[in-house]
Amino acid sequence: MSPVVDAPVRLEPLTPATDARLLAAVLALDPGPDQERYCMPASRTYPPASADPHRVPFAVVLRGGADAGAPVGFGVLDRRGHLEHLLDDPAKGLLLRAFYVDRARQGRGYGAAGARAARALAHAVEPAAQLLVLCVHTSNAAGLRAYGKAGFVDTGGRWQPKAADPQVVMAAALQPPARRRPGR
Ligand SMILES: CC(C)(COP(=O)(O)OP(=O)(O)OC[C@H]1O[C@@H](n2cnc3c(N)ncnc32)[C@H](O)[C@@H]1OP(=O)(O)O)[C@@H](O)C(=O)NCCC(=O)NCCS
Repeated sequence: MSPVVDAPVRLEPLTPATDARLLAAVLALDPGPDQERYCMPASRTYPPASADPHRVPFAVVLRGGADAGAPVGFGVLDRRGHLEHLLDDPAKGLLLRAFYVDRARQGRGYGAAGARAARALAHAVEPAAQLLVLCVHTSNAAGLRAYGKAGFVDTGGRWQPKAADPQVVMAAALQPPARRRPGR
């Protein structure tokens, strides 16, 4: 599968063929100890994702600058997960989960760009699907803002609505890659 690009990042699906140094760098990415209530690190979420044929783990990789090629974030596309509780027809959607940007790189636009690019990666993974769905805690202001900038909207649904910090169910249309005009 080809990488999906959304400046300033590209998403690199992680497969058994992935370069071992890239994978090691991804597994060292940390959302920050104060953020683990929102998302566990890739060192915990990558192993089960890589063993599940319904999930596609990916790295968020910098495209340019002195650190070009360095991973700054991680996420998983899931064809199953708890989609049946989030969509009337789970076959129409994919779930974005375990998504985060390394603590040291947060607040630079990589989260919003990565989440937007995930819509295109989801289209490449499952062209027949229509929606990319995610759950984000009500208290997670950075997550709500980044996903909103990436085109996700609040569906009105809540995951675990009776919890102290319920999760907002957000969704965005999958994004086919932009077509180039002839001659460009
Ligand atoms: C949520 C997360 C992925 C966002 O990625 P990011 O790279 O930090 O976010 P961006 O730099 O793309 O910022 C997107 C917007 O959120 C805003 N934002 C960032 N931190 C914020 C905060 N604490 N409160 C309110 N808004 C915030 C930014 O200002 C930006 O908006 P702007 O461009 O209008 O200024 C990242 O912060 C993260 O990994 N957090 C920890 C784990 C997590 O919460 N994962 C998501 C689980 S659903």
